[in-house]
Amino acid sequence: MSTRQSDRPAVVARGVHKAYGDVRAVDGVSFTVDRGEFFGVIGPNGAGKTTLIEILEGLRRADTGEVEVLGLSPWPRNPALLPRLGLQTQNSAFFTRLTAIEHLRTVTALYGVDRRRADDVLALVGLTGKASTRVDRLSGGQRQRLAIAAALTHDPELLFFDEPTAAVDPQARRSLWDLLRRLKATGKTIIYTTHHIDEAEALCDRVAIVDQGRLVALDTPRALVNGLNRPTVVRVPADRLSTEDARGIEGVDAVTLEAAVLSLSTQVPGRVLAAVSDLAGPHEVRTHTASLEDVYLSLTGREYQP
Ligand SMILES: Nc1ncnc2c1ncn2[C@@H]1O[C@H](COP(=O)(O)OP(=O)(O)OP(=O)(O)O)[C@@H](O)[C@H]1O
Ligand SMILES: [Mg+2]
Repeated sequence: MSTRQSDRPAVVARGVHKAYGDVRAVDGVSFTVDRGEFFGVIGPNGAGKTTLIEILEGLRRADTGEVEVLGLSPWPRNPALLPRLGLQTQNSAFFTRLTAIEHLRTVTALYGVDRRRADDVLALVGLTGKASTRVDRLSGGQRQRLAIAAALTHDPELLFFDEPTAAVDPQARRSLWDLLRRLKATGKTIIYTTHHIDEAEALCDRVAIVDQGRLVALDTPRALVNGLNRPTVVRVPADRLSTEDARGIEGVDAVTLEAAVLSLSTQVPGRVLAAVSDLAGPHEVRTHTASLEDVYLSLTGREYQP
């Protein structure tokens, strides 16, 4: 092989399978993640996201298929790779009897980095005020933020986050988005699972949608949404515009009335909005366009899966 490790993608997975007994948790998945990419993995509970990520992290062994991480094989555990990866797992392990800062200092010691880094990463996740609180007395969301801090202590180049915002409050979630964007801006590669589809849409360069162990879509959020080819819906209070007038607007393909709101479907929202504004004024007129959540629901179904 003449290709240097540093020229290889961050992750290459080819035909990866992993079964637990009869359950095909990961069922033939192939994809590549580029260096510096923010790569999202979304899918229903039990879709195989954590299993897939743990295979990439070197925590689980694939039954078949090939996996390459930063140009190296993550299995068997590769000591050259570990310091270059940051892991926040779905069930992060803590030194629960230590305080938050002691926990992070222990992590810095394990990685052999300056212990002052513990204070820096605690500040990055907004937990400085909890430095002397014992880990087992932190709230669920605070503990999750501590796990994120721990994943950053050794400044790794490839970061894995498995539902980092699951129990995190809205303000902390937005702070975390900022932090993740700053990490991406410094060239880090980020692999990220979430059930907040808005989050995947806002943060990720590309998103993989996984369902029952298979990759059912992989593209940029915008391309996924465009691929859905859904009309834009313009909503107007029904007391401001008659159904008849709405139907008469050029570019309106369908009009429905529900809960005293008229919904006008169109492929040319700019033109329809201008016409609605002329007839009814702009006040309380709302537009709804398809989002990544619509793509997700259309591909993975609306029903709970067993
Ligand atoms: N250690 C295990 N032993 C047996 N089955 C497992 C094990 N871990 C996961 N599974 C099964 O594999 C499938 C995929 O699980 P996985 O945890 O990868 O899903 P997930 O997409 O991460 O789900 P969630 O969104 O709930 O975190 C599920 O059916 C699960 O029950
Ligand atoms: Mg999971």
